[in-house]
Amino acid sequence: MSPKTLAASVVAGLSALALAACSAGTGPATGAGNGGGSTQAAAAEKTLRLSLNQTEQHPSYVALKHFGERLAKATNGRLGIQVYPNETLGAQAEALQLVGDGSVDLAIVSGSQLEKLNQDFSVFNLPLVFDSVESQMKVVNNLDVVGDLYTSLESSNQITVVGGFTQGTRSVYTSKGPVNTPADLKGQKIRVQDSPLAIAMVEAMGASATPMAFGEVYTALQSGVIDGAENNEVSYVTQKHLEVAKFYSRTNHLVGLDYLIINSPLLNGLSAEDRAAFDKEWAATFAEHTQLWAAETDKAVKTAEAAGAKFNEVDADAFRKALEPLTAQYLKTEGQKALYDAAQSASK
Ligand code: GCU
Repeated sequence: MSPKTLAASVVAGLSALALAACSAGTGPATGAGNGGGSTQAAAAEKTLRLSLNQTEQHPSYVALKHFGERLAKATNGRLGIQVYPNETLGAQAEALQLVGDGSVDLAIVSGSQLEKLNQDFSVFNLPLVFDSVESQMKVVNNLDVVGDLYTSLESSNQITVVGGFTQGTRSVYTSKGPVNTPADLKGQKIRVQDSPLAIAMVEAMGASATPMAFGEVYTALQSGVIDGAENNEVSYVTQKHLEVAKFYSRTNHLVGLDYLIINSPLLNGLSAEDRAAFDKEWAATFAEHTQLWAAETDKAVKTAEAAGAKFNEVDADAFRKALEPLTAQYLKTEGQKALYDAAQSASK
């Protein structure tokens, strides 16, 4: 299906999807009670459609919903945002195309998606590149550092990157038992995001990488197609992966990064006043998201433990040693090295 057809059919079929979500019973919370699609009243003259692959319980949904509300207020109702959670407008790979062709206005996509369009994005997806959420946020929302990178897809793909949301620290979780060393991952099929670096990372940690879309992971874990996955505590809980992979081993291999992307002609067509409001409210949005992130991570761990999940520390040195060679392998150009250095100096 072409991206345009896909967009038209998913939007037309939202209520059908919501009904299906209501009767699904298992898998991630779909927000069935409020339709699985958008939930906020959109009173704006122009309502931008934003694609998200998370549930309504996820901090990204909450912060983006508030973004829309504040934007509508700041522009006296000229501009609003309607968030479509739960992959209702497609998985991230589709969302990327739909934003490029203007069928969807905005999307949250993981760094591994943008790597496919410009390999410089892979710098921020390197394991060990950021040592904390705080240092990551200093870099990825500082346009002096990332301004050129964020406009680099405008002429080729009509996509502008607005800024970054943290994904927190990602770790491996499995159904079979705790992981302590890379040797424990030998022979285990671990789901990864679909990018060469994501695959290389999990293979360096000793596992066999299985790329697949986020929304397919629950069923794949449940049916035993994969033995585990890797993600942060919040997604582990909101996607209900804890039900089917109870051992969360703190490999802490990556402080992951999501981006807000927007169709470039749309962004560049905003009046100066609306653009200023958009930028200002986005700054408030990623700040709110970062705060929510810390609180929701703590909450997710408690929820998971109460539901029987087991968290364990790992041999951190062994994983670090396994991952270190990737830095040199993926930092090839001067531009990539400069981005890497900026990330490193912000951590100090
Ligand atoms: C995180 C991230 C998503 C990403 C997902 C994944 O939840 O926030 O943007 O899609 O990981 O592993 O696919």
